[in-house]
Amino acid sequence: MRFGVLTGGGDCPGLNAAIRAIVRGSVARGHEVVGIRHGWRGLASNETTPLDRRAVAGILPRGGTILGTSSYDCFREENGVQLLTAATRALGLSGVIAIGGEGTLGIAHRLHAEHDYPVVGVPKTIDNDIAGTDVTIGFDTAVHICTEAIDRLHSTAESHNRVMVVEVMGRNTGWIAAASGVAGGADVILVPEVPSAIEDVADHIRARHDQGKDFSIAVVAEGYQLTRRSGEQDDPVVQEHDAYGYARLGGIGRVVADELTSLTGFETRVTVLGHVQRGGTPTARDRFLATRLGLEAVDLASAGAWGRMAAVRGNDIVSVPLAEATGSRRDVPSGWIEAGRVVA
Ligand code: F6P
Repeated sequence: MRFGVLTGGGDCPGLNAAIRAIVRGSVARGHEVVGIRHGWRGLASNETTPLDRRAVAGILPRGGTILGTSSYDCFREENGVQLLTAATRALGLSGVIAIGGEGTLGIAHRLHAEHDYPVVGVPKTIDNDIAGTDVTIGFDTAVHICTEAIDRLHSTAESHNRVMVVEVMGRNTGWIAAASGVAGGADVILVPEVPSAIEDVADHIRARHDQGKDFSIAVVAEGYQLTRRSGEQDDPVVQEHDAYGYARLGGIGRVVADELTSLTGFETRVTVLGHVQRGGTPTARDRFLATRLGLEAVDLASAGAWGRMAAVRGNDIVSVPLAEATGSRRDVPSGWIEAGRVVA
């Protein structure tokens, strides 16, 4: 068989480990692999590269993706689906392994459901919000990076008696904020799933100061919507929209900091971690996860089990229909936020 492999949407650490596993797992089964550059766009515009064992040597610890990525959506382009299916035939592909998040897997699902297109998915996103799997590639590395940043901010916050607001990624869900907040010992964790009132946050910080703790760390997910005790809630803070109409979030850290300054009078600073969270070498856990998910995707493709996604359940690698993975979003369990509150 001949498989195409692509990475779509935002990059994350661990993509190269997945590509390597897909290539080597395929070769071990006697299949060929074609790398498709820049996500679904590369298939429509015939930007491909042959991938053999040697082509993926040395990429395991590298961040980013050797294939490049884009948020191209064939359903938004004129003749996009026809271009894609024609290219798939012309390349002699038995099917495509798509490594992606919500957007990329959503396209994979529609292609399969509406056009019987042969595709299997591998879940990646630092946001960790894909349904049907316990965890996605890139999440562990992002949490590690944020936790280290929170550790570093602790010492300088303490020296200056400041409130430090740390803005982390997580557009619809607060997995990174919750995990790194708990692991880094943050005093406040604000996530999109929980409408925490800013006045309560200010009270909590004031109470800490009254007890002699004159610094505080607040971790806020970029998708948190500022909420007041009155129940009033702002929209998420959007910087701009990209060429595909996708909202670029960012800036809620500043909004939270300004509110806390005016409510408490304490000196407050903001750190926005941004794309640092998506860069650099993947953790051992992400490399291991990407390798296992990549091999499962090869098994699915070899068996012609199109329309499915490799997934994690507990300690096992399983597969789920793409329909299940893309039908809903997976929120942070309330216990994670509660854990942060109890130990703060
Ligand atoms: O979905 C992953 C993610 O990192 C989000 O947390 C963030 O909002 C978005 O991607 C940023 O996308 P871009 O790289 O296009 O700015």
